[in-house]
Amino acid sequence: MNTVYYDQDFSDKNRRESLYEGNLFVYSPTSTTLEFVKFARSLIQEAFGGLDPVTAQYELPVEEYVAILKELKPRFIHHPKSKEYLQAILQERGCDPELTFFDVPRMRSSTSDDYLTAGIAYAFHPHRDTWYSAPMCQINWWLPIYEVEQGNVMAFHPRYFDVPIRNGSSEYNYQKWKATSRKEAAKHVKKDTRNQPKPEEPIELNPQIRIITQPGGMILFSAAHLHSSVPNYTGKTRFSIDFRTVNLNDLKQLKGAPNLDSACTGTTMGDYLRASDLKGVPVSLVERYMTGHPQKQ
Ligand SMILES: [Fe+2]
Repeated sequence: MNTVYYDQDFSDKNRRESLYEGNLFVYSPTSTTLEFVKFARSLIQEAFGGLDPVTAQYELPVEEYVAILKELKPRFIHHPKSKEYLQAILQERGCDPELTFFDVPRMRSSTSDDYLTAGIAYAFHPHRDTWYSAPMCQINWWLPIYEVEQGNVMAFHPRYFDVPIRNGSSEYNYQKWKATSRKEAAKHVKKDTRNQPKPEEPIELNPQIRIITQPGGMILFSAAHLHSSVPNYTGKTRFSIDFRTVNLNDLKQLKGAPNLDSACTGTTMGDYLRASDLKGVPVSLVERYMTGHPQKQ
């Protein structure tokens, strides 16, 4: 990886190929992403009543805060409008709706001062999403809902894009995780004891890249990038949206970033929806990914 492309007019195919090499793409806010942000803010503000969501953590006992997020996040994730916004964003960014599949968007929150870093607001250790049964051709999209700063965003650790890391992904199976641990997220308030794939060797967090955009600005990166939540001591909670896409042809042809060290089994592919009609990925293709990352022959 050596390049961050800013507002570049690539075709989706060329952009995917560049993302698979570890390059990053950043886009300025558009009217569509700003509408999406406005929608997310309306749900957040409703959930927190009269409190400012960015500082509400200082007004509420943590258990109450967790209870709010427990309602708010699924409401956003599964809201029909959220899917419509994703369809519009993908179209705007030149993705073929017949070939592009997306997963429902997540709302993330990163509270400040170690208020809540487990469970429903998990502070992510350095990881690749491909350790969590995401396919090597997965692309992650990330956008902040409120203003962010250097101390409350996410960080990329680019030196590991080409370097394998000893890690616990061989213990991870998405289907098992979904059936058990994920449902328990809100129970983990003080400490997160769920078994997740982590590096099993010391990680050099620097050099690292943190990209700051305006709310509604968007960052695209390969699911194989090592990335983490920046420990937040800014005094402000960060709220962001992320979602994932895959291209059907790349899935079939096993294109994507190189697999250096992802040994998980299971696959997230069964969750994806086609941008055109919200139909799933063909079952036969999902099956190919169930036993782990398929190798190119
Ligand atoms: Fe991630």
